[in-house]
Formats: sequence, C-alpha cells, structure tokens
Amino acid sequence: MNNFHVMDHPLIQHKLTMIREKNCGTKVFREVVNEISMLMAYEVSRDLPLEDLVIETPLMKTTQKTLAGKKVAIIPILRAGLGMVDGILELIPAAKVGHVGMYRDHDTLQPVEYFVKLPSDISERQLFVVDPMLATGGSAVAAIDSLIARGAVPSSIKFCCLVAAPEGVKVLQDAHPDIQIYAAALDEKLDENSYILPGLGDAGDRLFGTK
Ligand code: PRP
Ligand code: URA
Repeated sequence: MNNFHVMDHPLIQHKLTMIREKNCGTKVFREVVNEISMLMAYEVSRDLPLEDLVIETPLMKTTQKTLAGKKVAIIPILRAGLGMVDGILELIPAAKVGHVGMYRDHDTLQPVEYFVKLPSDISERQLFVVDPMLATGGSAVAAIDSLIARGAVPSSIKFCCLVAAPEGVKVLQDAHPDIQIYAAALDEKLDENSYILPGLGDAGDRLFGTK
C-alpha cells in the first residue's frame, strides 16, 4: 500500500541518529524530537487547502494564495506524543491541540485509554495524530478508533511517528487503509517485549526523564 511514507531527508536521519544513541540525555532528546517533528510537519502539511486572497504589494493589487482557514488539529497520543507538538506548532501556530491518553499495558501489551479531550469541531478538521513510536500498532489504532467514534473523518487523519516497526505499519494499514502514515524511519522488527529494534527505547521515559 502506498499510504506509508518514510521521510528520509538527511537532516531528519542525522537528528534521529542523535536520539537513538543511548547516552543522549533528556534535554537534547526533547529538543531534537521537536526539531524532527517540525521538519516532518513541513511534509505532512503539503496538501493543506489554499484559497485566493486579494492583497496589495507596494506596486499593485494582486490575488495570491493563503491557507484556507485555521482547520488543523494536532492530536498527541499521551504521553510521548506530547514531545512532538511544539515542533509542529512552530510551523502551524494556529492549530488546535486535542489529547488522547493511551498507554500500553506492560503485561498484555494492549492499549488502555485513560483520557480524551478534543476540539469540538474535529469532524471539520485535518487531524495530525502524533506519537513517536509505532510498535505493535495497538495504541495508534485504538487512538484513531476513538477519534473516529467521536466524529473524525478517516480520510482527514494523518498519523505521524518518528520510528515505525513493520508490524505496526501493517496493523495500522489493515485497520485504517484511508489514513496516510508518515515516519522518520522504518526499523527492522519488534523484540520479544514488542520494543522496536534498533529503535530508541521507551520514548516517553526518555522525553520526560522517567523509568
Ligand atoms: C508508547 C508509545 C506509543 C506506544 C507504541 O507509549 O509512545 O504510544 O507505546 O506501542 P504500540 O504500537 O505497541 O501500541 P507507552 O504505552 O509507553 O506510554 P507513554 O507514552 O505514556 O510512555
Ligand atoms: N514504545 C516505546 O516507547 N518504544 C518502543 O520501542 C515500543 C513502544
């Protein structure tokens, strides 16, 4: 399926290598996740709708393009998705931000939803669902199911992650074939605990300095 896009721009690959390194500390990890997210936002927002706007340059009146309304919402999957929000807001500062709280149960590996707060008009918005890690795909599918149950339009949802496992990409594609998936890297596989290899470890813990 061609709804999976790897953004292998040199700057993105370089920055991703920095945060994969196990000695990368919380401060740099957080900063670089934001930088990669900003770079990814440039591509993920490529097909935002434009409309005509009549303006005056110092020389003449002219019709030019402007973004059609403030119709984007960024939806981080808590916690780790929070780390990607500020970088995207650098490029799309008027975007609204909704939150879906989801954690992966350590024993069952099943996603557990614990919080949802969304803009009231999500059915009219382009939604960028963000989470650094797409591992089994369980959290992404559950979060997107939850958005659709609350009125989001599947074809208006894009999922954006830093590191994807092939297993998770397939699960998300099978569950939501209409959704475009963007990743900074497609890694090799999952380990026996469903961590991504080579991956970058536990993204939430590394972003927030917890264990
Ligand atoms: C991580 C990650 C994803 C999920 C990916 O979150 O941020 O949400 O795991 O795994 P999956 O594709 O197998 O569902 P985690 O559950 O560790 O919660 P956290 O963000 O609060 O750390
Ligand atoms: N969640 C993470 O934070 N990292 C992984 O490798 C898999 C799930």
